[in-house]
Amino acid sequence: MKVLFAVWELVPFFQVGGLGDVAKSLPKKLHEQGVDVRVILPFYKALKLHKQQKKEVKKFNIIYDGGKQKVVIYQISFLDEKIPVYIIKNEKWLDVPTRDTFAFYNLCVYEILKNNYLDWLPDVVHCQDYHTGLIPLLIKHNNLKFKTLLTIHNLNHQGKSSLDVIKRMGLDHSKCRVIQWETKKKQINFLLEGIIHADLVNAVSPSYAKEIFTEEYGSGLDEIIRNEGQKISGILNGIDYDSRDPIHDKNINFHYSVDQSPIEGKHLNKKFLQEKLGFTVSDQIPLIGFIGRFESKQKGLDIMHKMIRRVNLQKFQFVILGQGEVEWEDQFLWLASFYKKNVAYISVFDRRIASQIYAGADFLLVPSKFEPCGLIQMIAMRYGTLPIARATGGLKDSIIDGVDGFLFKKYSSFDLETKMKHAVEIWKNDKKQINEMILAAMKKDFTWDKSAREYIKLYNKLCNPSAIF
Ligand code: GLC
Repeated sequence: MKVLFAVWELVPFFQVGGLGDVAKSLPKKLHEQGVDVRVILPFYKALKLHKQQKKEVKKFNIIYDGGKQKVVIYQISFLDEKIPVYIIKNEKWLDVPTRDTFAFYNLCVYEILKNNYLDWLPDVVHCQDYHTGLIPLLIKHNNLKFKTLLTIHNLNHQGKSSLDVIKRMGLDHSKCRVIQWETKKKQINFLLEGIIHADLVNAVSPSYAKEIFTEEYGSGLDEIIRNEGQKISGILNGIDYDSRDPIHDKNINFHYSVDQSPIEGKHLNKKFLQEKLGFTVSDQIPLIGFIGRFESKQKGLDIMHKMIRRVNLQKFQFVILGQGEVEWEDQFLWLASFYKKNVAYISVFDRRIASQIYAGADFLLVPSKFEPCGLIQMIAMRYGTLPIARATGGLKDSIIDGVDGFLFKKYSSFDLETKMKHAVEIWKNDKKQINEMILAAMKKDFTWDKSAREYIKLYNKLCNPSAIF
């Protein structure tokens, strides 16, 4: 099985969110399970090659915006060169991500496949999110034989952009049903095109795959999703067990594992973190973390902020790590400056502090309004930190309330507060139960093995549609 994994971010070269982690760990597991997988992404100016050697694979021209554009494909080493990664260079359109970047990049992938510039052709092109949404359309409308799978990591990001982009790509949109439908609005929606034209579609958790059929979670695409329903399924992401491991993590000071002093290890990391943040060092006060992009539509910043403002702060310590929307950064800065002993806000994402929070906190808040999968709850659980999360999407699929974490149903600061206080009650009065929960969380299997097998099933289904799997 040969798979081209098309994506726009990849750890450690360029990362914006969880997708960057998935782009690293899923291909790694697919490769281990026998798939010839290769990754392709744009070569932005901001891409950090970390002294990796790049070798030129091919130079070619494409027509974009009516003119000839030079494109160079480089190959870089990734995971000991077992998995080829191709990065595509064009200074004018690919250096800095814009809508044109993705249109241009999608056109490049299509040209590469059509002309076999890699001297290697995949069976399946596996596209990730809206950034690669036009690849299925280009393949289908030009009758190339490759099968396509689109994975939706977040339906809320759709890549709506002006129809001019289509013109610049040289696409004839009269052939195209959805573009015609969108023409009235003079816009193109990359994700919608991907959903319509991909042979199969999946979301990053089974629950989210169901939720997006509803108006509440459908982000305006629910009708389309219901029409395309039979080709949509859900596969839960995993996490990278090599890099997310409290026994080896270089960013923490006290190492532990489920078999090697987990409770003591957490205790020492908590003390370290309390000192570092300038909090009172005490094991009587619960230390509660939050790690995430500051994206108010998704991440539940409003209910978390309301809840923190309302509770008696003497009884809790909160550490919040995240950056994004400036107004929310300001709100949390303000809170932290008033309650220095009990609220810390770190606005610059730093992997070291993130690890220290995973290891040192007692609980991690994940109050998301919607969450396609969510990786932080899984990482936290591997570090023995119990998530207090909203029962939605991948959170619901990865946490069992009262067993290895806590779930609250309604999107409300009151429900979050009630659940958090309930968790803290148990933490204070029933150490036996809490310790059992910590161990259950740490033992939970979030490896990519199972998910990679499910992706392989989808690839097989695409290539042998009549076979029964
Ligand atoms: C997006 C989603 C998140 C998911 C990640 C990786 O960032 O918001 O829920 O875990 O993609 O699939």
